[in-house]
Amino acid sequence: MRGDFVNPILVWYNQQKRDLPWRHTKDPYKIWVSEIMLQQTRVEAVKSYYQRFLETLPDIPALAGCPDDLLLKLWEGLGYYSRVRNMKKAALTMMETYGGSFPTSYDKIRSLPGIGDYTAGAISSIAFSLREAAVDGNVMRVMARLENSREDILKASEKRRVAQKLKAVMEAVPPDQDFRPGDFNQALIELGALICVPNSQPLCQRCPLKELCISHREGTTDAVPVRLKKTGRKKEERTVLLVRDGDKTAITRRPDTGLLAGLYEFPNLAGRLDEETVLGEVRSQGLIPLRIKKIRGARHIFSHVEWEMSGYEIRVAPAEANGDWIFADQHQIEKTYAIPSAFSAYAELLSVRTGKKGKKS
Ligand code: ADE
Repeated sequence: MRGDFVNPILVWYNQQKRDLPWRHTKDPYKIWVSEIMLQQTRVEAVKSYYQRFLETLPDIPALAGCPDDLLLKLWEGLGYYSRVRNMKKAALTMMETYGGSFPTSYDKIRSLPGIGDYTAGAISSIAFSLREAAVDGNVMRVMARLENSREDILKASEKRRVAQKLKAVMEAVPPDQDFRPGDFNQALIELGALICVPNSQPLCQRCPLKELCISHREGTTDAVPVRLKKTGRKKEERTVLLVRDGDKTAITRRPDTGLLAGLYEFPNLAGRLDEETVLGEVRSQGLIPLRIKKIRGARHIFSHVEWEMSGYEIRVAPAEANGDWIFADQHQIEKTYAIPSAFSAYAELLSVRTGKKGKKS
C-alpha cells in the first residue's frame, strides 16, 4: 500500500486532535491504563476513571500491590472486569521480571497478560516511538474505506493484514523525517472517531483523505466496512432480590471465576421466580421475611449473554448476618463494594451510586 495518506493525516491530527489527558504523557504505565480503559468504553466516560485510577494507583508497584476489592471499585461501571484483573497480573509480572518498570520491546510488552496486538502496538508506538501498528475498530473502518475493501473487518486475519500494511507504511517513512509513530496510530484512531464514523454518517467533506479514499470516490461508504460476525448471545432470566433490614441491603460476592468474578451483587437467582420461591430462598438464609413486593424489571447485555431481570423487595426482621450475605448501607456499598452496571437499575432504587455506564455502543 502507498503511504501518501501519512502526511495529510498527520497534518490534520496536529490541527484537529482532541485534548485528551493521556495525550500529555509518554509514561507507558499511563498509556497502558488509558488504552485498556478505551478498549470497550467511550472517551468521555474514560476521562474521570482514568484520572481517579492514576491518583489512586500512580505506578506499577501501586497496581501490583492493590487489594482486589479496591481494584474492582476503581473499575466499577467500566465492565469487562477481566481487563483490570489482567492488569494486576501484568503489573506483578513486571515487578518480578522487569524490576517494576515496563519492558521496552514490542514482543515483551505483547507477552504480558491482557495485552494483545492492539494494546502492544499502542504502547510501543506512543510511549516508545516504535514503528508498530495499533489496529482497533476505528482504524479498520478507515482503512477499509480508504481501500474500498469488502473483507469482513471483524476477521482476525483481516486485522493482521491491515496491521502488516500499516507497519510497512511506517517503516517506509525515511528515518530522517520527523515522524512519531504514536501520533500516526492515534491520527488513524481519531479520524475514525471524529470523521470516518460508522454507518451512513461519515463527514467526508471534512476528511483530509477524501481525495485518496476509494469508498468516497465510488460512493460506497454506506456499504463499507463489512462486519459479518454474529453475536451468538443467549438470553437468561434472573430474579433479583433487594433484601432489606432497616437501611441495610443484602449483597453477596460473586465466585472468583466466570462472569463478573469477585464483584458484589444483590442476591439473584436463575429464572423468573414467584413470591413463594423467593421467600423460601430468603428463609433458607436464616432470615425471617416480613413483607415482599414486586419491583421493576431490567435488562443488561454482556458480550455473550443477556440478562432479563425481574425483581422483588423483601423486608426482613433484624438478624445476625449469615455467612454469604453481607448487609450494608448505602454509604458502605458506595465506598467499599464494586457493584457491576448490570445491577444499576436496582442500585438506583436504593439511591446507591455505582460507577457510571460508559460502554461503547
Ligand atoms: N481509542 C483507543 N486509543 C485511543 C487514544 N489513544 N485516543 C483516543 N481514542 C482512543
